[in-house]
Order: sequence, then structure tokens, then C-alpha cells
Amino acid sequence: MTAAPRARDALSVDDAFAADVRAGLTAAGQKRLAPKYLYDALGSALFDAITQLPEYGLWRAERRLLERHAAEMATRAAATHVIELGSGSASKTTLLLTAAAARGRSVDYCAIDISAAALASTRLALAGIAGVHVRTLEGLFDAGIDGALAARRGPVLVLLLGSSLGNFDATASRALLARVRASLRPGDHLLLGNDLRKAEPVMLAAYDDPLGVTAAFNLNVLARSNRELGTDFTLRTFRHRARYNRDTHNVEMHVESLVDQVVHGPGWEATLRAGETIHTENSHKYAEDEIDALLDASGFRVAARWVDAAWPFASTLCAVKPA
Ligand code: TRP
Repeated sequence: MTAAPRARDALSVDDAFAADVRAGLTAAGQKRLAPKYLYDALGSALFDAITQLPEYGLWRAERRLLERHAAEMATRAAATHVIELGSGSASKTTLLLTAAAARGRSVDYCAIDISAAALASTRLALAGIAGVHVRTLEGLFDAGIDGALAARRGPVLVLLLGSSLGNFDATASRALLARVRASLRPGDHLLLGNDLRKAEPVMLAAYDDPLGVTAAFNLNVLARSNRELGTDFTLRTFRHRARYNRDTHNVEMHVESLVDQVVHGPGWEATLRAGETIHTENSHKYAEDEIDALLDASGFRVAARWVDAAWPFASTLCAVKPA
């Protein structure tokens, strides 16, 4: 039996961080940092705080959908194996796993997350559910799927909840879904979360709260770089920026330099002009037919969909299309 890829993916994540910060800061044109670096221990804690903000309605919308429909989701998927990509603190996952275990067969649950701190919360959240065996894997989303499935004994349900897919661009999200599909068999399912388009001020406020939690979450990537790589970002000379791009339907997150400055890293320096930004994340806002097309192109078909009435957010149960 093949061993699942282990936590030492974390090492390559660190090396990649140094290389990516350097490349992203010294690039000609738009400077950028990949969103996966937002989630160190502090970043994961700040994201948990974001989920409690009144402006971040998508989190509660998905929780309502799971509260109302977890039993039906679990029955339709009939899974004995659940794999979650990006489990975070997994508080919504408990609803689904409780429903799955209530069907009488034990459930193997495997969480894959880039953040060791998030996985610690995952284990804590899921510790007490009878009939659920919990495993965690630290790494990128696609790193552990096949390993996690190596010992499968029954149907599989993959969870990609929240607004995670929306953080990938169109090409990467199709590739991720196709990657998931390639690990699955007919009879398996994917439960996919997608935040839907709605009034622009509502979408924007979810990423620019007046308390400044989102700003702290976003700016923390610079603080993390200082802590781990020895860069010299002066945090007070940057501010959080969220804008809605009407062409791409992305909420774009940036950190904006307030002054002309030079930032140093090990063996490199980068010049930032006042007003220049470092792009840190996109969060795509979907139309329902766009989700359908994306799923169809990745080898899935829509088995069922639930949309929250108060905050347009879709939970889609996807069945595997025969190859
Ligand atoms: N997956 C979350 C989302 O797209 C991530 C997120 C929430 C985020 N708020 C943020 C990322 C602010 C960067 C900045 O909703």
C-alpha cells in the first residue's frame, strides 16, 4: 500500500514561500503574493474571526444550508469516506459528518489543509463525533487526495466548502476540479461551495469590514514574510484594499503602499511607489450557470443544488460523470 504524502510537504511550502515572495515582489508589472500564504497560525485565526463578522455573510449562508440539508446531502452521497480540501476550523463540517454517521455506517474523514494550525482546530472540532474516524494531512489541496483514498472501502464525498474554489483563477479551478474528478469513481460525489453574485456594496463589505479584521488578515502576509523570511515590510506604510472587478466578477484583494519605498529581502530589494499595490487574492463571485459549465467541463454533473434565500450562496452536490 502506498503511504500518503506526509506533513513534510510543509518544508517545500517554506522554501516556496521565500522564492514566491522574491519573485512576486521583484516582478515587472503587478506585484503579487499567492493567497495560500495568508494562512499561517495567525492568519488562520484571523480568518476564523472573519467568519464571525456580520459582513461576511457567505459563511453563515453556507452554515444555514448545511444545517437544513446535511441529512439529504449525506443520504444522497451515501459516503463512507469524506475528504475535505481546506478544512480550516471545520465547524460546518461537523454538521455533515454528524449526518453521515447518523446513517449507521462509520465514516473515515480526512482533512487536507496547508495550515498546521487549522488542522489542529479541525481535529478539535471533530473529536467527539461518534462513528467518525479523523485523519489530517498538511499540504496543498491536491497533494494528498490519492493517498487519502488508497484504502477506500466505499463511496467517497469530497468537500470543497466556503469560497475556496473562487480563490483559484478560471484555469486553475478547472484543473483542480479535474484533478479531484480523476481521483474519483462513478458513485462518488463532490460538495462544492460557491458565493454567488449580489449587490456590489454587499460583496465588497464582506472583504472590507469596518473593524479591520480583513485588513489585519491581508496585511498579515507581510508580517509573516518579516517573521519567516526576514523581509523588512513596515506594516504601517501599507493598507488593505478590496475592489470589485466588474469584468472578471472578482473581489480583488491588495495591499497598497502608502509611500514610495524600498523593501528588502534576503538577496533582493523591491521598489514600491505610493499607491502601488501587491495583489494577494481574488475571490470570484459566480453565476449559477457558470458553476454548471465549470463542473461539466471538469467531469461532473449537478446532482442537487441548494441556494440560501438570505445571502445568495450555492451548495452544489456534484456527481461524477462516467469518463
Ligand atoms: N476563501 C475566502 C473567500 O474568498 C478567503 C478570504 C476571505 C480572503 N476574506 C479574505 C482572502 C480577505 C484575502 C483577503 O471568501
